[in-house]
Amino acid sequence: MNMKRLTAALVSSAIVAGAAWAALAFADGANSAASAPGGADKQLIERGRYLAQAGDCAACHTTKGGKPFAGGVGIDSPVGMIYSGNITPDKETGIGDYTLEQFDRAVRQGIAKDGSTLYPAMPYVSFATVQPSDVKALYAYFMNEVQPVSQANRATGIPWPLSMRWPLRFWRMMFGATPVTGDLPASAGPVERGRYLVAGLGHCSECHTPRGMGLQMETISDANPLYLSGGVVDGYFAKSLRGDSKDGLGTWSQADIVAFLKSGRTSHAAAFGGMKDVIQDSTQHMDDADLTAIASYLKTLTPVHKAQAPLTADDTATLKLRAGTATSNGELTYLDNCAACHRTSGAGYGGTFPMLGLNPVVNSDNPSSLITLVLKGGQMPWTQAAPTHYGMPGFADRLTDRDIADVLTFVRSSWGNRAPAVTDAQVKTLRKTTGAKAPPNRPENG
Ligand code: HEC
Ligand code: HEC
Ligand code: HEC
Repeated sequence: MNMKRLTAALVSSAIVAGAAWAALAFADGANSAASAPGGADKQLIERGRYLAQAGDCAACHTTKGGKPFAGGVGIDSPVGMIYSGNITPDKETGIGDYTLEQFDRAVRQGIAKDGSTLYPAMPYVSFATVQPSDVKALYAYFMNEVQPVSQANRATGIPWPLSMRWPLRFWRMMFGATPVTGDLPASAGPVERGRYLVAGLGHCSECHTPRGMGLQMETISDANPLYLSGGVVDGYFAKSLRGDSKDGLGTWSQADIVAFLKSGRTSHAAAFGGMKDVIQDSTQHMDDADLTAIASYLKTLTPVHKAQAPLTADDTATLKLRAGTATSNGELTYLDNCAACHRTSGAGYGGTFPMLGLNPVVNSDNPSSLITLVLKGGQMPWTQAAPTHYGMPGFADRLTDRDIADVLTFVRSSWGNRAPAVTDAQVKTLRKTTGAKAPPNRPENG
């Protein structure tokens, strides 16, 4: 996660508001209302387990091969590593002595038991919309069902003075959200339920909404067309989920969205980057009613671009590739490296190799996903609904920056696609920031 701008904002807010903090710091700490974890019924605990998957708590709180929810997962930032906390019910090193109220404040307001503010790497701004009864179920699950693990929290790798936590409270005051006080009414239909899951536990907006100057989500209101209109995470572009047919979900049916969230693919697309983990760890475990609710809500989001003409298929590139008259570096690089799987027609193979023609991932203005995918390759998520998962090799050590820019520019302007050219400078930057392998030494070709 890129936190450069967050740091800048934090430092400046620290300077501006410096002294005022001391007076306020104590107000947060005081909360002694107790609620005993015992006595929670089985049903509530099971509900909590389901919600913990919907909230993907494990993605950030369980290390690969580590004990569930013991924390220590590193989230990279330019100022240093932020490590997630131990949220097992261990009394010394975990959250074992948190009351429901203290748990609630950590999850929905980003305030730890000692009153300090959490880094917004914990998606508490989104979780503010989780309804009180769901917070209660989560608490019952963590307190009763998760095994306590004694594992001290790791200090951040952020050097002093940036490691000071108190400026974070100003960030929270500016960009935090007030927790909702009531539950969704029982009469809420699927669209309302979908809105609730997307905004809250699903925290879809943390990746799919662009970030502002202070690294806050540009908007948390779905009345604003920037909501879910696309954001960059770890070198991938978490594309627009709005109604545009060129680069949003306009051409996806509700059934396509459900299939994607459940199995990690549709007949013409496959999940990669951060979305692969979201599906593998979280959405594939959600029930069909909730996935249908999410899909029906996403289909209500209006396009972000005003008059965007829809794409129409065009076979000029296919005919040229097949006739053997292609001569540009982009076309030849495609024939040599991509056509075996994605075919000269760009149609791929249903359910196996994604279709590149008329694909909204390919047609997004921001080409980051495509560059990172070609550099590093990808593996479709493993899901119960689609256990055979195919992969794409990485081309970082086989193709130069120029080859990758050329082949993607070709892909983005063929078969009816209509997206801006990719430059070698964009490839060069992502090769560096994603830690991809060095290019082959081929001076004649950039
Ligand atoms: C995108 C990553 C991410 C997700 C998803 C996430 N967390 Fe966190 N969480 C963090 C990080 C990072 C911290 C530590 C922040 C800090 O130290 O400032 C944290 C801290 C916490 C804390 C505070 C621990 C303490 O010591 O006070 C609690 C409680 C918590 N998370 C619960 C949850 C629950 C419950 C879920 C799922 C509903 C969840 N988190 C999902 C990243 C995440
Ligand atoms: C950790 C970041 C992250 C989170 C959280 C996240 N996404 Fe994604 N999502 C991505 C990335 C990156 C992509 C682009 C890669 C791809 O298409 O698979 C993506 C792609 C998608 C696509 C595919 C669109 C297409 O045209 O191919 C859908 C649908 C989607 N996300 C829905 C969701 C929903 C619904 C949620 C919340 C439940 C969510 N995402 C949460 C990162 C995320
Ligand atoms: C061995 C077969 C194979 C080759 C060769 C291959 N790909 Fe892929 N491609 C895949 C698979 C499988 C996926 C899905 C990957 C995932 O989900 O992580 C994919 C995904 C993609 C996507 C994302 C589409 C979407 O919506 O999910 C793009 C764009 C892409 N490939 C472009 C290329 C380009 C350009 C080349 C050549 C430089 C290439 N591929 C070479 C198999 C291949």
